[in-house]
Amino acid sequence: MVFEPYRIKTTEPIRLLSKSGRAAAIKAAKYNLFNLRSEDIYVDLLTDSGTGSMTDSQWAAIMRGDESYAGSRSFYRFKDTIKRLFGFDFVLPSHQGRSAELVLMSHFVKSGDFSVGNIHFDTTTAHIEFRGGTAVSCVVPEAHDPNAILPFKGDIDVAKFAKFVRENRKKTTLAVVTMTCNSGGGQPVSVANLREVSAACRKLKLPLFLDAARITENAFFIKTREPEFRRASIAKILRECCNLADGMWMSAKKDGLGNIGGFIAMRDEKLYDELKQYTILFDGFVTYGGLAGRDLEALATGLEEATDLDYLRWRVGQVEQLGKWLEEGGVTCMKPFGGHAVYICAKAFMPHIPESNYPGQALSVYGFLEGGVRSCEIGPILRGRDAKTGKDKPGLDLVRLAIPRRVYTMNHMRHVADTFVSLKQRSAGLNGMKFVKEAPRLRHFSSTFDWA
Ligand code: F0G
Repeated sequence: MVFEPYRIKTTEPIRLLSKSGRAAAIKAAKYNLFNLRSEDIYVDLLTDSGTGSMTDSQWAAIMRGDESYAGSRSFYRFKDTIKRLFGFDFVLPSHQGRSAELVLMSHFVKSGDFSVGNIHFDTTTAHIEFRGGTAVSCVVPEAHDPNAILPFKGDIDVAKFAKFVRENRKKTTLAVVTMTCNSGGGQPVSVANLREVSAACRKLKLPLFLDAARITENAFFIKTREPEFRRASIAKILRECCNLADGMWMSAKKDGLGNIGGFIAMRDEKLYDELKQYTILFDGFVTYGGLAGRDLEALATGLEEATDLDYLRWRVGQVEQLGKWLEEGGVTCMKPFGGHAVYICAKAFMPHIPESNYPGQALSVYGFLEGGVRSCEIGPILRGRDAKTGKDKPGLDLVRLAIPRRVYTMNHMRHVADTFVSLKQRSAGLNGMKFVKEAPRLRHFSSTFDWA
């Protein structure tokens, strides 16, 4: 068992609605958990993005925010922190991860181009596709098997990666390593693998960027799973990773420990000059990029805090504890547990429900009905239909329990585990779901459902 390396100074009331209240709320939400009001939720595990608690130091830093339009003191503190932690000289703030992606892909991708990586996150893929490009996944094959236990299941299959780039050299314009690999279950990438990818990129003259939303959690896995780094500090591991890349971008709503914000950081001044124009166009002047000075301050402090070993041990340990409780209660989860989330295998949970009745969506709804827990289907509804066949894209059907940082106690996690374990005990009597209104794009956000 891991223990919280903090005590609680401010609290926010939450309540568990009555059973009939929960049934009425989810019906009114048309069985789409994105439509719920947060005040009707007891434990909200929809996402770990922007949902964390800030420390007293971060709140104090907020008071020091310099709100000057250009050249603010807070920007320089933000930039210096990024330089110290990650080693990159040039920094462009952005209001969140996907706006950094809009800036980056506007430069790197044009129609017909490829970006190659482990698995690009949905928003990254969407921005590449928006520019007419294609995101190519070269993750190790075990990443698609929820039972395969591998220390670094977010690694790239380097042979496959190099072959693809060689065969499509002119059209491949970017390599992306997502750390941890969210779409693969929050699985980490090893330094050994990054070294190989980096060497291949140098040989092929291909720019390599890290999608570093959860890079400190990834560094913790490197420390605990990659023998060479057993004694290394998190700071040293971060530098080791970043030295292998040409740049990084980060949704700082995750390991930046902020409620909003992001950035792009890079080594090359020429590239910075190119990207600058897009930042000014999409996000604002280069010293604020869509953020208030106080946000930059909160993030500068948050980024430092996220490298603290006690914090990381607690953070990753809490996720692991939830996974262990679920498994002890007979709930099959993706293994190993991720850094920020536990993923329940919905098909194994309710094998009697056909894929066409969306067991993952049904299980998310049941989690709310049973215990006021909000989770997120990461399966066919999120993936959408294949443009060519018109059928749901194939793949795993998972329910993600993403844990906000420094928000919930172990008792809350116990409640979440009890909720799904009690559902598992009567899973044979659970039903599937069907679409009532299917949204044409990003259908998990705005479709509506009913029981099948
Ligand atoms: N990259 C990764 C790996 C992410 O997980 C996310 C967001 C983004 C980029 C985009 O960042 O939300 O700040 O625009 N992931 C959230 C999630 C939404 O719930 O996993 P953003």
